Amino acid sequence: MTSLMLIQTTMIHNFALHLLVISTDIYIAETKKRPSTDFMEKIQKDINASMRSILIDWLVEVAEEYHLVPDTLYLTVNYIDRYLSGNEINRQRLQLLGVSCMLIAAKYEEICAPQVEEFCYITDNTYFMDEVLQMEADVLKYLKYEMTAPTVKCFMRRFIRAAQGSDEVPALQLEFLASYVAEISLLEYSLLCYAPSLIAASAIFLAKFILQPAKRPWNATLDHYTLYKPSDISDCVKALHRLFCTSSGNNLPAIREKYSQHKYKFVAKKYCPASIPAEYFQDAGN
Ligand SMILES: *[C@@H]1O[C@H](CO)[C@@H](O)[C@H](O)[C@H]1NC(C)=O
Ligand SMILES: *[C@@H]1O[C@H](CO)[C@@H](O)[C@H](O)[C@H]1NC(C)=O
Repeated sequence: MTSLMLIQTTMIHNFALHLLVISTDIYIAETKKRPSTDFMEKIQKDINASMRSILIDWLVEVAEEYHLVPDTLYLTVNYIDRYLSGNEINRQRLQLLGVSCMLIAAKYEEICAPQVEEFCYITDNTYFMDEVLQMEADVLKYLKYEMTAPTVKCFMRRFIRAAQGSDEVPALQLEFLASYVAEISLLEYSLLCYAPSLIAASAIFLAKFILQPAKRPWNATLDHYTLYKPSDISDCVKALHRLFCTSSGNNLPAIREKYSQHKYKFVAKKYCPASIPAEYFQDAGN
């Protein structure tokens, strides 16, 4: 996203000026609240990317168990990664960090957040209540109480309507499939290099492709609302595509099982073509 592009878009679509101004703020906020992309190599000595994936997979189950909203899950992962960006942790305490971050995110997002006791209980009482509370305090302090962060989910909400045409694939399928793709991206440490807005746009691109492989997934409307062109998101779309194709073979099933349910229209079971035509990544010529 360049500022020039922003100005052009603003001039062309004066009627949408208000919306764009809000969007710009949120794009700026996202760059401030992002974790580092190399903390596993630079900061951590005892944990690695697989342990992070296992933790997040488990937190997905916890979120399901307590019926937490998706924003809570996304914020939890944002807090975990931001904390890990500056604090070394040993593997015995990684789960403690996970539940403490979820406790904070739930207080922030949920109308009726689970209590500390419940977060201890789901760890099989591996940690005492005062340990969770101490970790909560450490995280809040390290993050300087800056708990608002634009997550993939925030952007998804903005973008999805632009992606839903009236005559097209059922809107709910598209929404669930894009959400599934976005959620499996949470498991991948290597995807932290992509901004949440870029992951949201890429997840929508991929979901549209899976539902209608013969049709160009992107168009000018999506350019306009996401501020991304196909060439901006192509690397991320390809990474998500690889992830989608291999997700049935991995041993972290929580998200796949969640989205294999009827209430999510079984989207995790969708067939996906093995490659995406290169021309879908070409920008429209104007
Ligand atoms: C992380 O460490 C565990 C245990 O030492 C090991 O089994 C796993 O392969 C490692 N994963 C990565 C991505 O290095
Ligand atoms: C782009 O696609 C969406 C959804 O399919 C549709 O509603 C919209 O009209 C399209 N925009 C253009 C400029 O073709």
